[in-house]
Amino acid sequence: MKTYNIAVIPGDGTGPEVIGEGLKVLKAAAKKFKFGLRTKVFPFGGKHYLETGKLVDEADEAELRKFDAIYLGAIGLSGAGAKNVAPGILEKNILLKLRFDFDQYINLRPVKLYPGVASPIAGVSPETMDYVVVRENTGGVYTGMGGIMMKGTPNEIASQEWVYNRFQVDRCLRYAFELAKKRHTKKSPFRGLSAEAKAAGKTARLTLCGKTNVLTNVFGLWERAAKEMAKEYPTVELAYRHVDAICLLMVQDPGQFDVIVTDNMFGDIITDLGAACQGGLGVAAGGNLNPDKGGVSMYEPIGGTAPDWTGRNGINPIAAIGAAALMIGNLGETKAAEAIEAAIAKTTPKMKTQLAGQMGWTTTQVGDLVAKSL
Ligand code: IPM
Ligand code: MN
Repeated sequence: MKTYNIAVIPGDGTGPEVIGEGLKVLKAAAKKFKFGLRTKVFPFGGKHYLETGKLVDEADEAELRKFDAIYLGAIGLSGAGAKNVAPGILEKNILLKLRFDFDQYINLRPVKLYPGVASPIAGVSPETMDYVVVRENTGGVYTGMGGIMMKGTPNEIASQEWVYNRFQVDRCLRYAFELAKKRHTKKSPFRGLSAEAKAAGKTARLTLCGKTNVLTNVFGLWERAAKEMAKEYPTVELAYRHVDAICLLMVQDPGQFDVIVTDNMFGDIITDLGAACQGGLGVAAGGNLNPDKGGVSMYEPIGGTAPDWTGRNGINPIAAIGAAALMIGNLGETKAAEAIEAAIAKTTPKMKTQLAGQMGWTTTQVGDLVAKSL
């Protein structure tokens, strides 16, 4: 029997509550699909920082590196505590630090409408909203290049540079092409393809999201690299959309998307839009992946700490459970991941809404429903 070592960072606010439900479901899946789980909890987060002054240091990372994956709730402070910590401190020294130091260069964010979930978009169904955004996760404007000069003067200059090298672009595109190729078979190609494309042997569509009309340098590189790589993937139809148009189309015609690949900043923005379209942050799961051999990936619900809901057993754990499914699937337990996904799809129709406090069930009850549906 295989045993997986999971580092658990419950974090702040409702993080521990949703992670608790994710672990509950994982344990039930482990029993059913006969694999072992060993978890260790790490205290990183805003509360821990206020109490100890500690963020995440090299020794912590050396320890985390020994695990097969990291399961993260949410990090952030609210109220009086938050006022004492400048914006960016926790983000840059915990979440982004782990993403960068573990070279988690892919941020995978499925946009999937589960059955019974109300989307703010009229007329969509689980069949017409089921795509994945591959967000580049360690480059671009998040790299931190740039600076401030003449601070506090009328001539103050601030810059933040949008930088990519070919290597970063290529490895992100490679992951996206491979994912697109794997998502469909010749027998059941992506439903959004034209009859001509299907006849020509296409089974999937990869849409590059950029801004080649303004950010000509950076997205010129992305586009050239994508076109070159497309030659290696004859079954994947390569499409391109500007980021502004993609926002429009994610609302007006989500059925045209299969896999979207984009840079870090655009990916950050469009995946929150995607989360809204799929029914909100209560259902949106994500993974920060280092898909390379020996890489340690980190899985998290996209949502934050929801301070108003802390300790009330009212927050939606579906996103955290979805993140657990992503995690165990990527670790190799594909059947267990599919079973958790199916159990989520059986649970969402039983919920009144996906909103905190309005689910018709408590947090722990939703976790129980998913675990029992496995
Ligand atoms: C996300 C978040 C982070 C990001 C923040 C908290 C730094 O918004 O995971 O999308 O910008 O990547
Ligand atoms: Mn974000």
